[in-house]
Amino acid sequence: MANKSFSLFIFGGTGDLAKKKLFPSLSRLYSKGYLQGLDKVYSLARSKREDWEQVVCQLDRGLGKLCNFIPFDVKEWKYYSELEKLISQLKGQELIFFLSISPYLYEDTIRNLGRLLRNHPNPRKIVIEKPFGFDLKSAKKLNDLLHRYFIEEEIYRIDHFLGKDTVQNIFSLRFSNTIFEGIWNRNFIDHVQILALESVNVEGRGEFYNKVGAIRDMLQNHMLQMLAFTAMEPPAYFSEKFIRDEKVKVLRSTRIEKLKKGQYEGYLEDVGTQYSNTETFVCAKVMVENFRWYGVPFYLMTGKALKKKLTQVTVVFKEIPQSFVRLLDCKPHQNRITFQMAPQSKLTITFELRPPTGGFIACPVETSMEYTFPSEFEEAYEVLLLDVIEGDQSLFIRSDEIEALWEVVQTYLDTEDKPFIYPRGIEVPEQAVDFLQEDGIFWYLQ
Ligand SMILES: NC(=O)c1ccc[n+]([C@@H]2O[C@H](COP(=O)([O-])OP(=O)(O)OC[C@H]3O[C@@H](n4cnc5c(N)ncnc54)[C@H](OP(=O)(O)O)[C@@H]3O)[C@@H](O)[C@H]2O)c1
Repeated sequence: MANKSFSLFIFGGTGDLAKKKLFPSLSRLYSKGYLQGLDKVYSLARSKREDWEQVVCQLDRGLGKLCNFIPFDVKEWKYYSELEKLISQLKGQELIFFLSISPYLYEDTIRNLGRLLRNHPNPRKIVIEKPFGFDLKSAKKLNDLLHRYFIEEEIYRIDHFLGKDTVQNIFSLRFSNTIFEGIWNRNFIDHVQILALESVNVEGRGEFYNKVGAIRDMLQNHMLQMLAFTAMEPPAYFSEKFIRDEKVKVLRSTRIEKLKKGQYEGYLEDVGTQYSNTETFVCAKVMVENFRWYGVPFYLMTGKALKKKLTQVTVVFKEIPQSFVRLLDCKPHQNRITFQMAPQSKLTITFELRPPTGGFIACPVETSMEYTFPSEFEEAYEVLLLDVIEGDQSLFIRSDEIEALWEVVQTYLDTEDKPFIYPRGIEVPEQAVDFLQEDGIFWYLQ
């Protein structure tokens, strides 16, 4: 529980992320007594949108009283001079700056904020939303700029997937249990499937999304983070440095072998353009070229405007020896461990057993055991905000890690190959089914 005194400055504190995620998360943390040291929450934006008061009024009443609005344009220095007067009064307090603004405004904000903070001894942290850069070059440039004004221990790069219970439980299940860790390698695992399917389309984000696409929006961050947790080696110690060291190491062994892009029908109308090669769907075969995973494919698939939301990692084990199959004239299913993040947060282990009726020698049937992860927190941002306040960087992305993530996808950014078109509302595009069939397998969609 954080008792030290701190103030939170949310740049873009009237926007969508602030309204939907940050304020509700802060409110829940506050009402549970986690924000003992909080002095004030400042929302900084050019205009106090009509619903900002409403958002704040809906908060826990105690927290609502700590929230203020400051008219602010991150591009203009005069606003920072005003902010400086306020900061001068917050002697000894830790200052947490959350950049919940368009990524196109990051550079100006970091430069101006860095300049302002030079005159102040207050401990400080800066939290930066995704996307962090648009490719390897711009991510490096942003890292360099940040390091001019902040040390790495003050920088929190967010990927909110890391705040999810199930993602953290991939790590816990692997490294806290001998029964699983012993078989977590190329000798037992056939392949891994990582899915992030969405039923929503680009919604109100069309203009932004059209410059970004699914590789930058999902594959480079959330999907590769799930891969890193599944494939990383155990850290030397359970500390933030060693955990992040192992993630960087596995990402540096990771390369995309092949990739296919798609776009949903009607995307151009949604975005309001006549021509675009931006992908709303991508599937990829990814290899982790190290001792543990040599020859084990990781298949990644993400897309918009599909039939249902499904986010999960499925580890598929090798088939049993064939003699048993020949004897029974039936083919047992491959064992699987599935970590589901959405629609539910749960673990499922699927295995074969003899059928409840019938003789001793019978074809086995698929059986599964499910465990739903209990959680104290409703929302990943609650976990992440608390970690920022408490100074735990384990679930945030280090500068070398963000660059390693971009390196994996770099070759596939901005290639002008035309995406295939798929109908809205289908389970999975047929091109994605073929993509796996070429390797003799199929997607697990349960
Ligand atoms: N929304 C989500 O669910 C979500 C999820 C993951 C990551 N993110 C990331 O979070 C960030 C914010 O996204 P968002 O969806 O909340 O965007 P948004 O709804 O467009 O909000 C942007 C905020 O920035 C403010 N702003 C714009 N120009 C400004 C300026 N020159 N000076 C000061 N404030 C300015 C806006 O208020 P004014 O226009 O009044 O200034 C508003 O408060 C982005 O980096 C996005 O990629 C968002």
